[in-house]
Amino acid sequence: HLLNVISVPFDLGAGLRGASLGPEAIIQAGLVRRLRQIGHVVEATATVHTPQPPVRRHKTPSPAAGQPAGGPAADPASDAPAPADSRLKHLDEVTAINRELAHHVAASAAGGRFPLVLGGDHSLAIGTISGLAQTHRRLGVLWFDAHSDLNTADTSPSGNLHGMSLSALLGKGHERLTRLGGAAPKVRPEHVVMIGLRDLDPGEKALIAAEGIHCFTMHDIDKLGMAQVIEEAIRIVSRDTDGVHVSFDIDSVDPAEAPGTGTPVRGGLSYREAHLALELLAEARIVTSAEFVEVNPALESDGRTAKLAVDLICSLLGETIL
Ligand code: ARG
Ligand code: MN
Ligand code: MN
Ligand code: MN
Repeated sequence: HLLNVISVPFDLGAGLRGASLGPEAIIQAGLVRRLRQIGHVVEATATVHTPQPPVRRHKTPSPAAGQPAGGPAADPASDAPAPADSRLKHLDEVTAINRELAHHVAASAAGGRFPLVLGGDHSLAIGTISGLAQTHRRLGVLWFDAHSDLNTADTSPSGNLHGMSLSALLGKGHERLTRLGGAAPKVRPEHVVMIGLRDLDPGEKALIAAEGIHCFTMHDIDKLGMAQVIEEAIRIVSRDTDGVHVSFDIDSVDPAEAPGTGTPVRGGLSYREAHLALELLAEARIVTSAEFVEVNPALESDGRTAKLAVDLICSLLGETIL
């Protein structure tokens, strides 16, 4: 593969700060050297920045008026911005970074590269997948997560946009998110598979049922085993699609292995279950892009979560034991 590593040190979609330190920690843990050992060509690693200075966490709505628009080539959705919604925290910043990220990812995919996005919080899936949607009209998505990130302003218990990214990509929610970088929806519900779920809000459960989204909860993984889960997941995401994206929230892994994350939930994937899933995807040779998000080095002292992310990325990209 020709890989583009795209670092996005952004965390305003999360309720806690610190995931912005994730990309640097993952790079420092030796990602690029390991990828080259597998035989990949890692092209210039880009860092996507917000078009405005880092913002302190605050509880009041952001002072949107008077901010420069920022970012290149404004898309149609940004010409007449829909009004902000005070229930959506940092909507301006999340919109700006994702518009920028979508441009990077779209350029990478259009150039035949494998875009590998390092977050950052999971609101960044909006930019990654909106960028991919420009070249993949029928993208399959494997969403590894303890959560489903299917809230909207009406259902979110927190107002944090990292809990609303997948719904936005399916066309549900604020129009500044759903129409970012192109018309909604960016993915179809029948092309999405969720793996590792164990903490869902009531509105999310309702949306899963209404849209018929394929879910493999921790219960399903316990019962079927990861090998069978991935076999079925591969069948679903490669049916009638033109690419497969892996969106990997590190909190899908059990907090014993991945304590450095902002919304940990007990009872997650074991180290080997997570690896097996990604190794089987590598063997199937169907994955065309990936993102690894929610690594928060500020929440731990030994860097084990960033190291885990490196190990997992390498499994997805073909590293084998023997
Ligand atoms: N469901 C909760 C919320 O909406 C938690 C979401 C956590 N999302 C994440 N990407 N870690 O706030
Ligand atoms: Mn703000
Ligand atoms: Mn999560
Ligand atoms: Mn998530």
